[in-house]
Amino acid sequence: MTAASDRPLDSYNAFDPAVQENPWHYYALLRQEAPVYKDPTTGLFMVSTHGLVMDAIKNWEVFSNRFAAAMAPPDGQSAFTGAGGDDAAEVESGLLARPLMPVDTMLTADPPAQKRYRSLVDKAFRLSRVRSLAPRIHELCTNLIDAFIDEGRVELRSAFAVPLPLSVIAEQLGVPAQDLPDFKKWSDGFVAQLGGMASPEEQERAKALIFEFQRYFAKIVASRRARPQDDIISDMVNAADERGIPLDMAESLSILQQLLVAGNETTASTICEGARLFAEHPEAWARIRQDPTLIPNAVEEILRLATPTANMWRIATETTSLGGVEIPKGSMVMLRFAAANRDEGVFEDPDRFDIDRKNANEHVAFGYGIHFCLGAQLARAELVKSLEALSRRIVTLRIPADAAPLEHTPNILLRGLKSLPLEFERA
Ligand code: HEM
Repeated sequence: MTAASDRPLDSYNAFDPAVQENPWHYYALLRQEAPVYKDPTTGLFMVSTHGLVMDAIKNWEVFSNRFAAAMAPPDGQSAFTGAGGDDAAEVESGLLARPLMPVDTMLTADPPAQKRYRSLVDKAFRLSRVRSLAPRIHELCTNLIDAFIDEGRVELRSAFAVPLPLSVIAEQLGVPAQDLPDFKKWSDGFVAQLGGMASPEEQERAKALIFEFQRYFAKIVASRRARPQDDIISDMVNAADERGIPLDMAESLSILQQLLVAGNETTASTICEGARLFAEHPEAWARIRQDPTLIPNAVEEILRLATPTANMWRIATETTSLGGVEIPKGSMVMLRFAAANRDEGVFEDPDRFDIDRKNANEHVAFGYGIHFCLGAQLARAELVKSLEALSRRIVTLRIPADAAPLEHTPNILLRGLKSLPLEFERA
């Protein structure tokens, strides 16, 4: 830890990239001194212990996920003011002359709307579908590893961690391999906008990207409605709620956008943090090589320590009290999942990487309750298959001695390594 232990809590700026790079001492201070902390600079309320994060999540009527409007820049929706004038039938047939106004769907909605969206989309992400993808995930892992295994060195993020989840979800959303670079560009653009650190120019670029993305996917949605296939997008756009009402085009596109933001960066970051942890703990690597049945619990431990969705927003719908602190109506609340996952009251010796940890899966890396991650089973499958494939082909791995210090991309919500250089001995 770089932070001096006598550094007071109010000297930290949560948005400072240096704090984001190495937040662990700050998180420990928050848990110990102010589990519900009103940040003096921003006025945000930060919730940092496991128990209080869970309390806030369970009380979803008061700690609402309808935070999108509060997070938008002052002119946030201006690119969309022309929306809505299109001919509805034309829109539903996949022809967009203008951007469609984004709809608050799962992550940025509350029940009953959120419940309706989840009931329509959960079916598309059901466990049997995820299980049926296992052979394809394995094949994609193998192909990616084949491309670097003879080199003895790899930058794992770009060569494996990013393309794996991107390819899995792209295939399931009907995006052909040649369009993957566009798909990646949209995903990156949305993540940058979400980071809370985008410049006005980046915000403008994000709006343009959203329209490009909408035009591309409106055609796919329309074609999957006309000719369903055996994939997630077909299940999604052909599902109907109990009143027989399916998702309309604007809802479908907003959900697709959320899938891209929520799924790719997070899974890629977990793969990288996992490989880094194993590079730093060669004895643990040797054990999973010898006994792959240890991998699923190791994945939970990696998720706990990595917590790529480090923080998430809530907005207080009424004046309330949490952990003895009054939170006025309308306050922005930050749930600090990454701090909760190192709560010493729940996880013994919380900073230690322990692939046998008995309660590793008590982490809140996927959230909890009504907003529990839609893609958790898919992400777990990708993480387990990645480690199975990598550990079968690589005997030992390490971070090269001449590598630059590892760095994470500054982002207030999502935490992920910029790159991960590794050298290794192949099997
Ligand atoms: C390691 C990978 C992942 C992590 C750590 C992660 C983390 C999370 C967390 C913490 C939440 C809850 C947010 C809240 O309470 O407000 C969440 C929700 C969500 N995740 Fe994930 N996620 C991952 C992968 C995925 C994947 C692969 C997908 C889909 C392709 C996905 C789609 C979603 C969606 C749509 C939601 C919103 C659900 C709702 O609000 O009802 N995630 N995720």
